[in-house]
Amino acid sequence: MIEILDKNSAKNTKTFLLNTKNTTYAFTVLESGHLAHLFYGAKCDFGLDGVKATEGINKYLAGNTISYSSEYSNIGLEDLALEVSTIGKGDIREPQICLTNIDGSTSNDFIYHDYELINGYSSNGYRHLTCMPEAFSGDEQLIIKLKDSQRNIYLELVYTVFEDTDCITRRVRIINKEETFIDINRALSLCLDLPSKNLSMMTFTGAWTREMNVNELKVTQNKIVNSSFTGTSSNRNNPLVILKRKETSDFYGEAYGFNIIYSGNHYSCAQANGYGKARFVMGINPENFDFRIEHDEIFETPEVVMTFAKNGLNNLSQNFHEFIRNHIVRRTWAKKVRPVLLNSWEACYFKFNETKLLNMAKKAKDLGVELFVMDDGWFGNRDNDTCSLGDWDVNLKKLPNGLKGLADKINELGLEFGIWVEPEMVNVDSNLYREHPDWAIQIPGINHSEGRNQRILNLTMEEVRDYLVARIFDMLSSANIKYVKWDMNRIFTDYYGINLTRQKEMAHRYVLGLYDIMRRIVEEFPDVLFEGCASGGNRFDLGILSFMPQIWASDNTDAWCRAKIQTGYSYGYSTSVIAAHISASPNHQTLRNTLQESRFNVAAFGMLGLEVNLSDLNDDQIQLLKEQIAIYKKYRDVIFDGDYYRLSNGEETEFGNCVYEWICVSKDKTRALAFTMQDKAVANQPNAWLRVTGLDDNKKYHFFNMSNKYEIKHFGDLINTVSPIHIKPDSAMHRVIGKLKKMDGEVEDMVVAGSLLNNCGIRLHQNYAGTGYDGDVRFYQDFASRLFFIEEVVDNEND
Ligand code: GLA
Repeated sequence: MIEILDKNSAKNTKTFLLNTKNTTYAFTVLESGHLAHLFYGAKCDFGLDGVKATEGINKYLAGNTISYSSEYSNIGLEDLALEVSTIGKGDIREPQICLTNIDGSTSNDFIYHDYELINGYSSNGYRHLTCMPEAFSGDEQLIIKLKDSQRNIYLELVYTVFEDTDCITRRVRIINKEETFIDINRALSLCLDLPSKNLSMMTFTGAWTREMNVNELKVTQNKIVNSSFTGTSSNRNNPLVILKRKETSDFYGEAYGFNIIYSGNHYSCAQANGYGKARFVMGINPENFDFRIEHDEIFETPEVVMTFAKNGLNNLSQNFHEFIRNHIVRRTWAKKVRPVLLNSWEACYFKFNETKLLNMAKKAKDLGVELFVMDDGWFGNRDNDTCSLGDWDVNLKKLPNGLKGLADKINELGLEFGIWVEPEMVNVDSNLYREHPDWAIQIPGINHSEGRNQRILNLTMEEVRDYLVARIFDMLSSANIKYVKWDMNRIFTDYYGINLTRQKEMAHRYVLGLYDIMRRIVEEFPDVLFEGCASGGNRFDLGILSFMPQIWASDNTDAWCRAKIQTGYSYGYSTSVIAAHISASPNHQTLRNTLQESRFNVAAFGMLGLEVNLSDLNDDQIQLLKEQIAIYKKYRDVIFDGDYYRLSNGEETEFGNCVYEWICVSKDKTRALAFTMQDKAVANQPNAWLRVTGLDDNKKYHFFNMSNKYEIKHFGDLINTVSPIHIKPDSAMHRVIGKLKKMDGEVEDMVVAGSLLNNCGIRLHQNYAGTGYDGDVRFYQDFASRLFFIEEVVDNEND
């Protein structure tokens, strides 16, 4: 609910209160016309007294700070909490908006002019002037209209309130009413000044196959910047940022979360000002950005979403999860659980033909897989990554019956069919490049710096966009294709488009071009499930999720690495958008051996797929996979839209190992799935204590695990403690016995109160500790993990 209070109607000094279910965001118009930020946090009853009590305007200015004007000599912009910031009028903190005016000057002074309130704000999720995505189905929208005190430049601050998820979005429109052009050097979507006491900034950084490492830095007078310059939102610095108090943890304390609905270069910065305030800004990266708008033109920034949570980071993450599920992911797949898929990439890379794919598909069908995905390698002469991107014609040597022939056969097996594409790219060794070298982003006459042997197509050119849309329309109409993995495998270099006069507009115009083609394609094929990908997580953001309902989170499929990566994503992204696959052991990225159990358990906390050559698996592995897929299907609705909590976030335990623990609880609290995983086994570790959260204290639950068997081989030469004859480890005999004799795994099976699971926790079976083993002991090696199932038990009244 948005409330507007009038302090003094003659002076137009209004106060705006933006309330969500649990939060209040407040700002007021000062007599000078500046917008002073009052508060953002847990819900407060303000009233005019509250405004007076929180305004905090100094009577006298400190030392050598600047006084805004002779009329308002006590207003110093350096130490005011502001809703919008520029340069040149005394505010020397991180600016939000920087323009070059007609006269070449860079000072701007935006003063309150008017507002507009839109109840029941409805949006189809895209901006009118561009294809820029925005969150849809907001409750109310407030537009604050400002005008430069000296110039004909208008600024609109757009706030949309999403009450149910405690989220508010913000963006900015710059409107040029000057006689001629102005240049926008910086146009950030949000400026927020908060109390700086004990504030720290969490960022999510990484690299290829190492996405979403969690960092925490204290906010001081030195700037902390989280930005990307890859041309994408990047795996180096994901745009998600959290500001928290020192003492805030997953379960306690206050935190603010921010993310941007944008897939290009982003920027955010936090800095304390030395007067107890910390400024946070977020938007398009101003680096290599300079955008001209002519008379009467408008520049719109991407939308930033912010949330506040009073009860810890799990509370904050859940706000974002709900926001993504209710206001970002749209169309057919928004509320629909995703099919279990088999992807051919790690199973065969470029080496496949129709027979091989069909063999795999048959096996996959028997396992319960629902969708078969043919990854890279099906078009042009694509036997490796040096050629053919751009030539989206099927390779008839590999697939003599074309896409349709293969798709039909896959469908006959009872599976849906999907493909991989990388539309934004071109290899120099391709027909497309030979015909249209000027369609690539590159500087004429200058050596190009290549990435994965490929160049980026210039999506700022309408001709290129139309061509791509037509090709993809043809492709998707040519066969029964129900899924598309849309990849993007290099970062930008040598920014230059032959069509542009102002090259510093390219990075942003590219993103707008990308959104244009994505929108045209996904709207034409609403039932196709699109999955975003950029070498894994190099473009994992809310912009892509506004078009494509899930993203391949990382090219790293190692179970332990994925537990860490998926924990990182969980701070800002719901499990429903994270694609996760079971792959081979040893793993292709780390060469680490992990049990199939662990590989499944981690992938089960995402949108599940397999990425493994099923012909290489033995009968036991196949049987286990079958059971795993069946159990996933039983619980996938819980993973898809349940409430997710981090119970342990990988920090070192008192035993010196690291543990990740998660739980997803169905909305009605009748079912839950819990997960635990350790990196290394610790000798003589007592039985682990598992305490969960989110269950109904007043319900009773059946708590159980998946029954499991372990090969005696894993116990090495300990076999000789029970064998009547000596068995040499790794000998043929050892292997044969290993095959025949399986050890029972522990069985967890109990009915307990929700209050016990939530508030006390339970002791799991004792780990193997070197002194004895039977079915009551947990076989729990390095990188071992467990899934637990929790189901409500309803007492029978006759009992
Ligand atoms: C990228 C993707 C992989 C795979 C390959 C194919 O690396 O992230 O999943 O699709 O491209 O070339």
